[in-house]
Amino acid sequence: MKKVLDLRIILSERVAANCVKLVAAPVEGPLPECKAGQFAQLRADVPGAFLRRPISIHDIEGDRISFLVQEVGEGSRWLASRQEGDIVNAVLPLGHGFTIGDEHSALLVGGGVGVAPLLLLGRRLKAKGIKPTFLLGGRSAGNLMCLDAYREVGEVLITTEDGSLGERGFVTQHSSLNSKLSTLNCLYTCGPTPMMKAVARLARERGIPCEASLENHMACGVGACLCCVEQLADGHNHCVCTDGPVFNINDLKW
Ligand SMILES: Cc1cc2nc3c(=O)[nH]c(=O)nc-3n(C[C@H](O)[C@H](O)[C@H](O)COP(=O)(O)OP(=O)(O)OC[C@H]3O[C@@H](n4cnc5c(N)ncnc54)[C@H](O)[C@@H]3O)c2cc1C
Ligand code: FES
Repeated sequence: MKKVLDLRIILSERVAANCVKLVAAPVEGPLPECKAGQFAQLRADVPGAFLRRPISIHDIEGDRISFLVQEVGEGSRWLASRQEGDIVNAVLPLGHGFTIGDEHSALLVGGGVGVAPLLLLGRRLKAKGIKPTFLLGGRSAGNLMCLDAYREVGEVLITTEDGSLGERGFVTQHSSLNSKLSTLNCLYTCGPTPMMKAVARLARERGIPCEASLENHMACGVGACLCCVEQLADGHNHCVCTDGPVFNINDLKW
């Protein structure tokens, strides 16, 4: 069940030129139960930024929750500048997370800061005996974050557009992708829309179940303002904040 709570920052670590990892714990009481793929609405105390900012739950260990915050504007810059001991007000968990079934192996494909929710997903899959492989892409080595944490959970394959780390190219061009697709039985993806659409195309061609996490612009985060709507394959508009952000690709008009 969602809760409004104050989180105290325990660790603030710059993990890329424009991205900070925040580890936090509730000031009072336990952390509510959260699923991989759910998100938090974090309050940014900057003048004019009265709306909370949606940020994916990156990881949970015990009562510690972490987020990756990419600095793009006022709100995210404020959040990324929080230091140990600072308090951030949060509403969480929000939305529907990823579905974890009874598959035996899964490929988790992420790009940019879209890699964030895949760490907790990998952890939860592994806890259920499902082998996660991460396929992570970025523009260059400096855009790939927290790789050691992903490596602790599963195998990590990397692509960069400039070839500075892993294989040169896009995630969908990785040389191991074909062999992975022939053995795994579930795909998950989060990142830039063109990347997710390419992953969805591959999943359809191979008949592999696939879920994608959308990052439509949001305001309220709770289904009240309709600013995050996405028209789905059923022809109806759905709120990404409450009906998503994770959708089965068969429900999307992709
Ligand atoms: C479900 C969900 C999960 C997200 N998870 C993360 C995460 O884990 N880490 C992270 O760093 N960011 C995440 N985002 C994106 C993050 O919410 C936005 O980057 C942030 O709200 C921008 O706020 P701002 O005040 O810094 O920027 P603003 O001043 O509001 O905007 C600055 C720029 O960012 C763009 N922008 C604003 N919102 C979004 C958005 N939702 N997606 C893409 N571009 C946007 C604007 O168009 C503008 O160009 C997520 C978004 C959603 C919807
Ligand atoms: S963000 Fe307000 S309805 Fe989704």
